[in-house]
Amino acid sequence: MAYQLPTLPYEYTALEPCISKSTLEFHHDKHHAAYVNNFNNAVQGTELDSKSIEEVIKITATNPSQAGIFNNAAQAWNHSFYWQCMKPNGGGTPSGALADKINADFGGFDKFVEAFKTAGATQFGSGWAWLVLDGDTLKVTKTGNADNPFTAGQTPLLTMDVWEHAYYLDYQNKRPDYIGDFLGKLVNWDFVAENFAQATV
Ligand code: FE2
Repeated sequence: MAYQLPTLPYEYTALEPCISKSTLEFHHDKHHAAYVNNFNNAVQGTELDSKSIEEVIKITATNPSQAGIFNNAAQAWNHSFYWQCMKPNGGGTPSGALADKINADFGGFDKFVEAFKTAGATQFGSGWAWLVLDGDTLKVTKTGNADNPFTAGQTPLLTMDVWEHAYYLDYQNKRPDYIGDFLGKLVNWDFVAENFAQATV
């Protein structure tokens, strides 16, 4: 069954002035849509067509001859996840069990912020910064291009797209400014907390 391009969980103008309507139109309607279409076209009529997109990502990750499918599957999934990681008037700090776990594993929220900013800023070229659950420990990681923490056996809780198409219209070369706004004004901690709760059931 074809993977559906999700609609954005907010209006195209909802993240302004941090992320403009124009960025979301290009990023969602062009880039994300293309990954979804390419993924669906690539698996149509193959044995992968009956698998979930998460399964396809795991199956194709280790097979170089399926790199094209992997890249489009992972990018389709990563973007669907990324949209939910943001909300209007987001940012701030998490609460409850997630906040406790961040304090325990990073030594405080500020330490997490520092690690996440560094991961995003130091990802050379295109990729993603992540907060993941690895076993029973929270970790900050970064991945290049389409890669996704599933391939390392980790559970994604939060992601930030650091491909230039995510921020260049609004921030040009100032990736650290985009990262600062993402953490300070956009992160949907309720979504991250839901992911954490589901991963620790
Ligand atoms: Fe992107």
